Amino acid sequence: MIVAFKRLRKAVLPVAGLGTRFLPATKAIPKEMLPVVDRPLIQYAIDEARAAGIEQFCMVTGRGKTALIDHFDIAFEVEQNLAARGKEEALAMLRSAAMEPGSIVTVRQQVPLGLGHAIWCARAFIGDDPFAILLPDDLVLSDTPCLQQLAEIYRETGGNVVAIEEVPMAHVNRYGVLKTGAIEGNLVEVLGLVEKPQPEVAPSNLSIIGRYVLRPEVIEHLARMERGAGGEVQLTDAMAKMIGGAPFHGLKFDGRRFDCGDKVGFLEAQIAFALQRPDLAAAVREFLKQYQVN
Ligand code: UTP
Repeated sequence: MIVAFKRLRKAVLPVAGLGTRFLPATKAIPKEMLPVVDRPLIQYAIDEARAAGIEQFCMVTGRGKTALIDHFDIAFEVEQNLAARGKEEALAMLRSAAMEPGSIVTVRQQVPLGLGHAIWCARAFIGDDPFAILLPDDLVLSDTPCLQQLAEIYRETGGNVVAIEEVPMAHVNRYGVLKTGAIEGNLVEVLGLVEKPQPEVAPSNLSIIGRYVLRPEVIEHLARMERGAGGEVQLTDAMAKMIGGAPFHGLKFDGRRFDCGDKVGFLEAQIAFALQRPDLAAAVREFLKQYQVN
């Protein structure tokens, strides 16, 4: 029997964090506007979501984040200027990134009380629909966009799906970590979730990265505003409460993830993404030779 689940067409992008690890760069510019090669992080996240069939977007913003909203508006002066100068390629690139009118909304998280609280702020947008979450500072280089990989699992199971990867045991205290059940290829049944466990008590080294497909029930759990690790309202804790209801899986996605919220991860992403670019790869490879250190 084929069961039809509600189609996945909404995504929430929480961008209300303070980005303290990138100060002073993030003093007046949101972290998500930092470019990898020539595209801001937020643009990668939106493009990935569109490739996965998402049609409606909600950015959860905070103070000082208006550049993120402007980025998805039409830049009349720039476009006119490019047209007058016959710069068709640049114009086409800007236009292909334009959003469908009305497809992107923002809500404010007035105080950054945690990722779970940020998602709860988008509750009116989410309503009764399944939704994706993309954290723009996690960038994934892959043949099939990471969110599309999760969306395919959602289409089969109708349940919750999170992207996971193995991390060194010493780093599990930075992530939400899985207690695993049955494992079928890349798909791992989730029996438990713990946010930022100490390595000695962590149930595994399989950690959640910034891509999720969740059922709307998570909002009911978030609404209790229970504080978890770091005194924050943790998404992981609310997700843990959904285990045992609808199916819940972790997907070891195909691809490489870069933590662009971290300086080394951000630099690695610049190199890896530049090496993918036909117009840049040769020059980048050439200069990298100069930096071969032991
Ligand atoms: P981070 O843990 O990377 O925090 O948030 P941050 O504030 O962005 O950066 P640092 O650690 O100070 O350098 C992970 C994601 O959750 C969002 C962030 O915007 C980021 O996408 N977030 C976090 C919120 O939207 N609200 C919050 O209250 C916390």
